[in-house]
Amino acid sequence: MSIQLGDIAPDFVQASTEGEIKFHNWLGDSWGVLFSHPKNFTPVCTTELGAAAKMKPEFDKRNVKVLGLSVDPLKDHEAWSKDIEETQGVKLNFPLLADADKKVSNLYGMIHPNASDTMTVRSVFIIGPDKKVKLTLTYPASTGRNFDEILRVIDSLQLTAKHKVATPVNWKDGQDCIIVPAVTDDEATKLFPKGFKKLKPYLRTTPQPNK
Ligand code: BEZ
Repeated sequence: MSIQLGDIAPDFVQASTEGEIKFHNWLGDSWGVLFSHPKNFTPVCTTELGAAAKMKPEFDKRNVKVLGLSVDPLKDHEAWSKDIEETQGVKLNFPLLADADKKVSNLYGMIHPNASDTMTVRSVFIIGPDKKVKLTLTYPASTGRNFDEILRVIDSLQLTAKHKVATPVNWKDGQDCIIVPAVTDDEATKLFPKGFKKLKPYLRTTPQPNK
């Protein structure tokens, strides 16, 4: 059974480039992003890890801990880290799980045997401070992920966790939001002092509440 939104993210203990990770303890009260890489010393993964390392200050600002995974042993991760620094111009600044026994990959359904029975697909799990899974993404090995999109989803999730809004198509931080249908117009007047536009009874927009 695959991991679904709202499930508690399975806990695990696994070796990483920053020592043993006890996942739930390591997350603490933070949000988390867990993402898998098909294999060490591969070109697309190298660029992804460089991009994620460059974006670390953005994740920190949002109280998000970042955790990579690759199904290779720790000594290979150490050698690969040097290549990442050399080619991407940035040091790996978050832990990379050494999941050579595929414990975490299997727990999270990151191996799709009809795609490859040895490598993981490119999975992403965003996990909330309540340890529940808020987003899952699955990309093929040949397509590098869009880490701007991962940050955008985190912004939306963190906003909707605090305010009774949802975010529309292609929304970016700072743009108008949608008032959720459960809120009446009277409540909306109180909740959203910047006002709201009513395009249809079910389609009401308001300036982003936390800006
Ligand atoms: C890559 O990261 O470049 C890659 C990994 C597995 C298959 C294809 C590409």
